[in-house]
This record gives sequence, structure tokens and C-alpha cells, in this order.
Amino acid sequence: MTGQRLESLSAMTEAEPQADGSIALSSSEILSSVPSDNLGRHSARLSPDKGNSENYHQRLQQERAWVEVDLDAIAHNVRELLSLLQPGTALMAVVKADAYGHGAVTVAQTALAAGATWLGVATVIEGIELRQAGISDPILLLGAAQSALEVEALAQWQIQPTLSSTSQLQMFAAAIQGKAWQALDETPLPIHIILETGMGRLGIPWQMASDFVSQVQAIPRLTIASVYSHLATADDPDPTVMRQQQQNYEAAIAALQAQGLTPPRLHLANSAAILLQDPSLQYDMVRAGLAIYGLYPEPHLQAQAELRPALQIRARITQVKTVAAGSGISYGHRFIAPKEMTIAVVGIGYADGVPRNLSTRLEVMSRGQRLPQLGSITMDQIMVDVSEVAEIEPGAIVTLLGSSTGAQGTQHIGADDWARMLGTISWEVLCGFKHRLPRVSLLGGSHEKP
Ligand SMILES: Cc1ncc(COP(=O)(O)O)c(C=O)c1O
Repeated sequence: MTGQRLESLSAMTEAEPQADGSIALSSSEILSSVPSDNLGRHSARLSPDKGNSENYHQRLQQERAWVEVDLDAIAHNVRELLSLLQPGTALMAVVKADAYGHGAVTVAQTALAAGATWLGVATVIEGIELRQAGISDPILLLGAAQSALEVEALAQWQIQPTLSSTSQLQMFAAAIQGKAWQALDETPLPIHIILETGMGRLGIPWQMASDFVSQVQAIPRLTIASVYSHLATADDPDPTVMRQQQQNYEAAIAALQAQGLTPPRLHLANSAAILLQDPSLQYDMVRAGLAIYGLYPEPHLQAQAELRPALQIRARITQVKTVAAGSGISYGHRFIAPKEMTIAVVGIGYADGVPRNLSTRLEVMSRGQRLPQLGSITMDQIMVDVSEVAEIEPGAIVTLLGSSTGAQGTQHIGADDWARMLGTISWEVLCGFKHRLPRVSLLGGSHEKP
């Protein structure tokens, strides 16, 4: 972090009002993970003086609602996963979908500093974002590049593509003949081949691996960097399907080797497979997504590692008021106050990614106390019952996901809790926080002030 950056951060921490129960920022180094061009967009209507102040932007980011990302937790989780690996097995941090909603650039930098050596993205644009941030470590595009334009971009930005079909290989072969490619230097483009071993998604059928590898080798300027596959059921307590996939994968690799084709790198495991701690699944590299963000794919995988959730969703109360018995709350009056109540309006809603389906079932937390959300979740605001809270004022912070500590102890609500309530998976919950919410990354701990 630059000196200038640190200075502006400490200015922010000193200026942050603490009396309102806000998070204890004073002991933390804070950096904003909102890309500077994003800040620029938001600052378009600010006066030039204020609009140019980084401190001012950082303050503004925590005035309504935000995603708080604990980078220490990310680093811890990476180290924890590395401790499960065989010596020599590399860890790829999967940072697609803006690092599962945590902010791709800061997560990538943190994961690399903690020992990951590869990054995985799903789209070319995601890879370019990392390169533009100055990241020079290897990036694997896990999705399929579709066009000559993308192939050109991959070469220019040194993002390593996955090849998953013969038609895609033909497209690559044609793109390489194009003018833009001819203008690039002669450095070959490392490519990765994904085999379909039972995931039922992208990939060359595993029985065709040798044939496909020979076709790739016939094309100049492509060099094979790895042959990999992806597991469909590693989180299932019944390992049958996973073992069949592994068997298919190994049969394909054996066929390649019999032909004298030895891929320089093999990889198969996702978070669930890493947490199984079975060396036979680890090969040369593993690809970790969810576990880096501190969540377990399934509860039975908790025994092997102590992971810490990195994401917290915080929002401020904007109004506190007393409502009479019989008052209807929010659209549709799905909640009618049974008695006089004190309610707080909180500035976060479904446009920020709080699933509307959680209406009337959601709970938020304030200083270690759980507060029921009332009526329908609206686009930008929710209402919560604060009748049992001794003192609460506009400006106070509530936590929707994460931890909250107070006199009554600590409460935790995780993405996995929401996933269970919604009948979905933690991955979808994490990816659901929309771009309207600033990402605020913390070093040195993330917690609410009691
Ligand atoms: C090809 C590939 N590898 C690895 C991962 C990481 O998976 P997980 O988040 O379960 O660790 C993904 C994520 O979907 C993926 O698509």
C-alpha cells in the first residue's frame, strides 16, 4: 500500500464517528476495493474539491450500506487450504464473478500474497480487470472464449484460455492467422484443455483426449499448459460419482502418456475436493473458490480446516419511529403491528441484493442482538423491529450477514444460513450482492463495536 494511501486511510479512521455503534475502524487499515474508475463514476456530480478526495469517497461508501470484506480472513483461508495440500501442489484462487462478490482485485492480491500462485476467472473481461490492476501472475480463463476478438484479447493480456471443443479449437486456429495476432510477438499462447469426465458441462469427452491433444499440437503458437477436469459431486458424502470422474480423468491422462504426451500440469479439485484432504485428488494444482471466502460447501466438510467467512453485509438505520397497534408495514401490509412498536428503517433492499424472498423471515443484527425484519423487503429499504433495543438511533449500523457482538454475546448469520432459508447454495448468496453496494475491504479485523 502506498504512503499516500495509508495517510488517507488513517484520516478516515480518525474522522469516523464511533459513538453510534459503528464498526471499530480505528485499529484497522482500511482500503477501498472500489476500482478508481468506479469511484469516478459515482463522483460525477460531486463538487470538484470533494469529488477529488479519496477520504470523502471512503466515508460516503459507509453512509448507507456496504459489503465489508475481511482480507485477513481471505489470507487465513488461503493459508489454511495450503496446509491441506501435498508439497508441490499449487493453489489457484478462483476469483470469478468479482471474487464471488468480494472484489476481484483485492481478493486476488491478498490470495497471491498468502501463497496462491494462480488466479481463475470466468470471462475475458474479468481477466483484463486483474491485469489492469497490475497483477502479473498466471490467470486461467475457466469459461470458453467465443470469438476471434476474445482470442486476440487473451493473447494481448496474457490470459490463458481453456479449450473445450473442436469447433473452439478451429476458431482459435483461424484467429491466430488474423492480422492482430501476426502483429503480436512470437510468444506461444499457453492453453488449458478441459476434459468432460462427468460434470455434464464444458469439455472434450475424456475418451477423445489423445486425439484432441494431437490436434492442438498441430497448431503453431499454441502450447499446452494443463489438462484438467471439474468435479460435479465432490461435496456429496457419497463419493461414487466423484471417484468415477477421477477414474475417467486418470484413464484419459494415461492414454495421453502412452502416446508420449505428458501434460505439464494436471488439476481436478475444487473446494470440496480440497477439504476431503485426499492427496490423490490434488495432482499439480487445486482450484479453490468458496473455501477461500470462508464457507464450507457442505457441513460434513468442516472437520478438516478452520475457515473464516470474509464477507459481512452492513447497513445504516435511516429512521426510527413508533407505530401504533394495527399499523401496516411495507408493501402489501404483510405485517400489521399487533401492538405499539418501535421500528427502524434500514437503507438496504433487494436492489442491493437482499433477496426479496426472505421478506418476513430475515433477521438483522445490532450489537449482538437479533432484530426481526418486518413485512416486504423493498427495493432500497427494509423495516426492522427495534422495540426490544434499549437505545438505537438513525446512523447506527446493523449487520445482515456476518457477526455482531454486544453485551448479550455474539451473533452470526452466514451466507449458508440464507442459502438454507432460500433453498439455494452459498455460492449464489455471495454472488447476489449487487454493484450498488460499495466493497470496503478491511485489514486487521472486522467487527461491530459493542
Ligand atoms: C472449473 C472450476 N474450477 C473451480 C471452481 C471453484 O469451485 P468452488 O467454489 O466449489 O471451490 C469453479 C467454480 O465454479 C469452476 O467452475
